[in-house]
Amino acid sequence: MSSVFQDAISNFLVPIKDLLEDEKVSEVMINGPFEIFVEKGGLVYKVDNKFPDESSLVSAMRSIAQSVGRVIDDENPRLDARLPDGSRIHVVLPPMAKKGTSVAIRKFSKESLTLKDLISFGSLSPDAARFLDICIYLGKNIIVSGGTGSGKTSMLNVLGSRMPDTQRLLVIEDASELQIKAEHVLYFEARKDAPDRGIKGVTIRDLVVSAMRLRPDRIIVGEVRGEEALDLIQVMNTGHDGSMGTVHANSPVDACTRLETLCLMGDTKIPPDAIRKMIASAVHIIVQCSRYHDGGRRTAYISEVLGIDQFGRYITQDIFRWLQKGKDPDTGKFIGEVVPCNYVPSFFDQIVVNKLPFPKSKFIAPEWATKMIKEFK
Ligand SMILES: Nc1ncnc2c1ncn2[C@@H]1O[C@H](COP(=O)(O)OP(=O)(O)O)[C@@H](O)[C@H]1O
Ligand SMILES: [Mg+2]
Repeated sequence: MSSVFQDAISNFLVPIKDLLEDEKVSEVMINGPFEIFVEKGGLVYKVDNKFPDESSLVSAMRSIAQSVGRVIDDENPRLDARLPDGSRIHVVLPPMAKKGTSVAIRKFSKESLTLKDLISFGSLSPDAARFLDICIYLGKNIIVSGGTGSGKTSMLNVLGSRMPDTQRLLVIEDASELQIKAEHVLYFEARKDAPDRGIKGVTIRDLVVSAMRLRPDRIIVGEVRGEEALDLIQVMNTGHDGSMGTVHANSPVDACTRLETLCLMGDTKIPPDAIRKMIASAVHIIVQCSRYHDGGRRTAYISEVLGIDQFGRYITQDIFRWLQKGKDPDTGKFIGEVVPCNYVPSFFDQIVVNKLPFPKSKFIAPEWATKMIKEFK
């Protein structure tokens, strides 16, 4: 951590220092000076920490902004910044924030999760994990979809790290977050416009253009939130198999629709119908991450995108999904499992040809689940 930030913490963030140092705390939420919540193990708790008053909270935020070369004041009442330790902070000042200065600090976790962790958390079954591994090996284009804090970035980290060592991966992000364990990986970060300091912005779109000229095998766009969706789809459609990105959506079909909306945000001349077809052929697999009410993050669906039907709707088929079987009466945690959905992916022949050890029987749902899958449909 830089010493300027250390000073800012020791001087101004004393009231929440213990929370920032506690490795079990993943997020700190400040709702005005007197109300602070933390997220621990996926659940949100209120804590007793308080700032003395509104003005000391605002000064703390000012000095943090300053330490990262930014300003927060009446003219710039919102701050979105990354702290030197990789944590992300967002601040909104009153009067926009009605309860007083509102802050969320998403702490940077030093340890990134692995496929094994996801299995041990029950977020994936061993077979579903092996299947994802196969998708990466076969160079399937994957979109990780989910809400805020549902585990998209963690999933992308895990998937990226399974890429074969012989390949070159280029990662493009709005704010650096991914830590992919791969032999040959390059990271790029977009830059905001700052005319007062003579700094010209570099967008994710710009970086995708550069990435394409830097001999990529695969490209990852960390968070697809704007027009860059079209660039990622084009990357996927032009032979950079195994490219990936995340979108904010609640189901696999939703993820496709969301990508479409984002593609159309730019001043593209491509008609919507054509964009829909491009998305349906570019995206092979959607991994849906969800955060459940018990605080658990799970892989809700692994689905294949098959195309467009005669009404122009996306056709997707669930390959695996998480099903709830019950609830632990003591902890309140949901009990469930990721199960196959009785669907054999269209690319099964590639699994066979490449002699990958994944027999067809692994796509067959257990009896108890078959009943539930039918009931849901
Ligand atoms: N499967 C999981 N089980 C438990 N915790 C998880 C899981 N996936 C992610 N997390 C934790 O949840 C938090 C949010 O994850 P993140 O990947 O940043 O979400 P998103 O990118 O969707 O906002 C992180 O603290 C991360 O360590
Ligand atoms: Mg994320």
